[in-house]
Amino acid sequence: MVYEGKTKEELSALLEKERKAYEEIKLRGINLDVSRGKPAPEQLDISAELLNTPINGFSESGIDCRNYGVLDGIPEIKNLFAELLDIKPSEIFVGGNSSLNLMYDLIMKFMIFGTGEGAAPWKDAEEIKFLCPSPGYDRHFAITENFGFKMIPVTMTPQGPDMDEVERLVSSDSSIKGIWCVPMYSNPQGISYGDETVRRFAALKPAASDFRIFWDNAYFVHHLTDTPDSILNILEECKKTGREDSVFIFASTSKISFPGAGISVMASSEKNIAYLTRLIGAQTIGYDKINQLRHAAFFKSAADVHNHMKRHRDIMYPKFLIIEKSLDEGLLAEGLITYHKPNGGYFISVDTTLASAKRVVKLCLEAGLKLTPAGSSYPYHIDPNDSNIRLAPTFIGEESLSEFGELFSCAVRISSLEKLLG
Ligand SMILES: Cc1ncc(COP(=O)(O)O)c(C=O)c1O
Repeated sequence: MVYEGKTKEELSALLEKERKAYEEIKLRGINLDVSRGKPAPEQLDISAELLNTPINGFSESGIDCRNYGVLDGIPEIKNLFAELLDIKPSEIFVGGNSSLNLMYDLIMKFMIFGTGEGAAPWKDAEEIKFLCPSPGYDRHFAITENFGFKMIPVTMTPQGPDMDEVERLVSSDSSIKGIWCVPMYSNPQGISYGDETVRRFAALKPAASDFRIFWDNAYFVHHLTDTPDSILNILEECKKTGREDSVFIFASTSKISFPGAGISVMASSEKNIAYLTRLIGAQTIGYDKINQLRHAAFFKSAADVHNHMKRHRDIMYPKFLIIEKSLDEGLLAEGLITYHKPNGGYFISVDTTLASAKRVVKLCLEAGLKLTPAGSSYPYHIDPNDSNIRLAPTFIGEESLSEFGELFSCAVRISSLEKLLG
């Protein structure tokens, strides 16, 4: 590490220098927000034609999408996701504009009605615990916190969650009812689960018969490089172990077409999909089939989606490269951070070696750069090491990224030096 072996006086002088640089940056009046993984406006433009795609209200399969009916989604959308996810159309339920809503709603259904016909509602359990591979997605944790579940962090490894820990916990505690997973280009680390990890998920022997895996495949086609990651098909692996009822897969077009105005899907065993379709039938007359039709007209095949994602990638990847270069040549070379270079997804997740993540985020904010609040990637916002910082480089323009890199690096150096000087 760059500060190793330095005397107190030398460190103080370095801190003085960094503070001066920080004050100078502050005077520039920076106003940047990299706190959320949002597509840039140019990425949204790629899908602009979706709004002009002619549709006459009827699907190719002959469904009058202008009217009530077809609760589980039009065949064209089921077929599209079936091709993309390598899952049977009969194993897919098409939802509304947000997969997160499907996840929340699924947990609500398990609370009230149980995980299947005859299963006890989760609300009747004395205590419910949920495994939360961390760092993870803050909105997953917000859902389980909202329901009052006890969240147990599980360490993330480069191959996915620590499966020794998962197996030990799940098999020994019947109050553990579920686990959050982002198996591909995880939020925030960009890690994709190894084959062995997926197989071990399929082979879990939970103490709770109604333990469920929430497999949020949000970034399944969101590759950044020519050497994309791939993961095993969890539903197929679960079929091999006879545990296909234990997993629910989620995906959406939020970061393919329009966030908040796309199509979401949930996939599981035919038995689970039939059970949920019955319950959802009492809840709604159905989801927006006109939007399904629009998406089906715009994306006619999986190949269309993959080509479309290449256009996203052409906008996104240069931004990732700018940030990675700045980190590699600066903080990483100085030994002040570690990070995993993602092959896809929306984030770069940095772990500071010395610096306090809270202090870094505060310093950045005071100089005009909004980062995701420190601790957000952990249950209850408690990062045990106060070291993880999530960077979301997609929304801001390339021209602002060097400024972002400069300020972030300065803040990490200041916080690291402050730590060393006590
Ligand atoms: C892992 C993960 N799941 C789900 C979502 C949200 O998905 P949707 O827009 O389909 O609700 C996000 C958005 O950032 C995400 O990162």
